[in-house]
Amino acid sequence: MAELRAAFNRHHALQCGFCTPGMLATARDIVLRLPDADEATIRHELSGNLCRCTGYMGIVAAIRSVLDARRSAQSDPAPSVPAVASARAFTGFAVTDEALGTAPLQAAPAANDAGRAADRKGWSRIEGSFTVPYAIDAVWAFMADLPAVAGCLPGAVLTEVEGEKVKGHIAIKFGPMSARFDGAARLQRDDGGKRGVLKGAGQDSLSNSKAAGDIAYQLTARSASETEVAVDLQYSLQGPLAQFSRSGLVRDFVRRMIADFGKSVARRMDPTLSESERMKTVQLNPVALFFGVLWERLKRLLGKGER
Ligand code: FES
Repeated sequence: MAELRAAFNRHHALQCGFCTPGMLATARDIVLRLPDADEATIRHELSGNLCRCTGYMGIVAAIRSVLDARRSAQSDPAPSVPAVASARAFTGFAVTDEALGTAPLQAAPAANDAGRAADRKGWSRIEGSFTVPYAIDAVWAFMADLPAVAGCLPGAVLTEVEGEKVKGHIAIKFGPMSARFDGAARLQRDDGGKRGVLKGAGQDSLSNSKAAGDIAYQLTARSASETEVAVDLQYSLQGPLAQFSRSGLVRDFVRRMIADFGKSVARRMDPTLSESERMKTVQLNPVALFFGVLWERLKRLLGKGER
């Protein structure tokens, strides 16, 4: 970032206080993820940062100058810059057993632990919960059935299931955002503690963004016939979609998805419903959802929402 800040100064690439931080964050991502980017690639990658006040000439020139300088430094035998090395390692992640982790569950982050797992550097974290009107053992058994669980997530399709490992894709639409992540995940469960972690990694074919995430969940009996499921989602996004990863709207969207997932779980477990009624996933209308979440935030901002 220091190299980019200097280059933005040198090339008169600074715009206003709204778009410049976004330009710099995107530029840093380009430099780390696409060290061989040419001008067309830089322009494509910047296309998510809209500024109608510039032709982007200075911005593109600044990013190119940093890429050029780093390329010539690399052809030098001097030690390479650690930030680039680690970014490359991440960029190159494949959906392998190593990427999904085979460490025992105890090492994985778990919701509601007394000394909660520290947030991972660069990862975002969202917590949520839902309650279902069934006994903890029944809910625990349901959560082991990965195809059934995937069926409760709108847009999720499993293409391969092999024991605790799955492959598939999930389509996400939220207002103007649209993505389809193809990837794989592995579920680890701790029967005694009634908690599990689903570790996954995938790539969005539309934007070439990469995602890695852990969904940790913990079941707690609220009564003999009611179970609370606390969900602790940690994720990392790289690529054009990364700019959305920490936005408050996205957090609200994910919490809403967790709540809707809970409704779908309750419906699937309901013995009084017919098979076809149980199989209905709570459908999300991306436009209605976007404005619903936006409206809730506005109400909170205006101090009229429920607290
Ligand atoms: S200068 Fe910031 S939007 Fe154009």
